[in-house]
Amino acid sequence: MNISFLLNGERVHLSNSNPTATLLTYLRETRGLTGTKEGCNEGDCGACTVVVIDDAGVRALNACILFLPQLDGKAVRTVEGIGDVASPSPAQKAMVDLHGSQCGFCTPGFIASMTAAHINGDNDHDTTLAGNLCRCTGYQPIFDAARAMETVPRPDWLEQDRQALRALPTQQPTMAQPRSSEALAALLMEQPQTRLIAGATDVGLWVTKQFRDLGAVAFLNQASDLAEIAETQTDWQIGAMVTIETLRLWAVEHIPAFAELLQRYASTQIRMAATIGGNIANGSPIGDAPPALIALGAQLQLRRGATRRVIALEDYFIDYGKQDLQPSEFVEAVLIPKRPHALRCYKLTKRFDQDISAVLGCFNLSIDKGVITDARIAFGGMAGVPKRAAHVERALIGRDWSADTFAEISAEWAQDYAPLSDMRASAAYRLRAAQNLSLRYFHDLSGTVETTVKGVRA
Ligand SMILES: Cc1cc2nc3c(=O)[nH]c(=O)nc-3n(C[C@H](O)[C@H](O)[C@H](O)COP(=O)(O)OP(=O)(O)OC[C@H]3O[C@@H](n4cnc5c(N)ncnc54)[C@H](O)[C@@H]3O)c2cc1C
Ligand code: FES
Ligand code: FES
Repeated sequence: MNISFLLNGERVHLSNSNPTATLLTYLRETRGLTGTKEGCNEGDCGACTVVVIDDAGVRALNACILFLPQLDGKAVRTVEGIGDVASPSPAQKAMVDLHGSQCGFCTPGFIASMTAAHINGDNDHDTTLAGNLCRCTGYQPIFDAARAMETVPRPDWLEQDRQALRALPTQQPTMAQPRSSEALAALLMEQPQTRLIAGATDVGLWVTKQFRDLGAVAFLNQASDLAEIAETQTDWQIGAMVTIETLRLWAVEHIPAFAELLQRYASTQIRMAATIGGNIANGSPIGDAPPALIALGAQLQLRRGATRRVIALEDYFIDYGKQDLQPSEFVEAVLIPKRPHALRCYKLTKRFDQDISAVLGCFNLSIDKGVITDARIAFGGMAGVPKRAAHVERALIGRDWSADTFAEISAEWAQDYAPLSDMRASAAYRLRAAQNLSLRYFHDLSGTVETTVKGVRA
């Protein structure tokens, strides 16, 4: 595959490059840029964070699960290109002055995250630094350093990179890098076996951890029409390539409870790479977005060639590892109905940040004059797929909106779910948690406990 990008201001052109070579390997082994560290090699620790700049903005991304073709037409800044000993950047200087670094292994990653957040004017350091792990310094001095640089000017190299990007020669479109949903549809009709790569936050690990040969691949990140959020009279249409971070920021205004959930999704680096299409298409029983979308009554738009079909999102998940996706078909968009809702989502994990759900419950009930008139409840982590609580929903409709109702129908949960025990939680815990979360929903909506939606951070 041919790839052109900017690396620390320098033009790089790679011909016939291995499409699943990661940026981290390229930096360290080919370019000797060893400032960017390898910790976990699976997107968890942030030691490999770099700054990536393109038309869509500035992102902190994990280089360990970023394939080189995802950088085509973009600019990358590693810690070496952010500043150096002779001319340290504000982040580097603040980390030294405020003692934010001890062994220093995590420091380049923090510098990259702090720099991206600073450029974006994002001072929510709890959130922007949640994907960076430090094992020895402790976070207080690091947060102090991040705060100290809030008001400094943006780096000069940002504008230089933006100008150089405009002058970067555009590659000829290739089958493996479709520039539109149309081109993707045509590719899949011709080569149905092609493995699609969206944000690579799942697929990246198949390469770095499982050493899998992916065969023929296509990168979707240049199919710009798939990255749009559009509005019709009835729906919001979220393109498959909309990142989780873009969706989160959109949801702060439109569906705050969804935004609050998405803030618990992995880390800033992962949210800036992962897409909603990937989060659904992978069919994971513990993906965070599907239960919320199912509770909202979302539909999935699938496309095969010129033919589109729209299905209820819950129907896409047939069984563990089995989805309603035909050969040559792909996820084009998610349609969220624009109707009033009372969505609340509860994600149970051992840590607040950067943790996969043990149980995720999403509730959306309609209440009229004290009576439950409609119910949509969906859970992750309770079955082999994200699944609606059909028995519970039926038992609730027509009943009084009261804590007693939730207690009286609690036996229904076992009709809907027979969860597994695994390293995240036992089956008994999961079932009990689901019952208790329904009561929490009642109290949240009734205002008898403080509603968590107020805590949304934009
Ligand atoms: C450190 C870490 C933390 C994580 N934390 C969370 C978390 O908190 N919550 C959570 O839900 N997930 C989490 N994940 C999982 C991952 O981020 C999500 O599943 C993600 O949404 C996948 O999207 P992607 O764009 O990266 O997909 P990719 O990895 O590119 O693709 C995933 C799968 O979907 C297919 N695919 C992608 N797009 C399409 C399309 N448009 N049509 C058809 N098929 C398609 C691919 O072929 C592949 O099979 C985490 C992952 C990591 C590495
Ligand atoms: S090495 Fe840990 S996130 Fe990349
Ligand atoms: S300074 Fe040692 S891991 Fe952060």
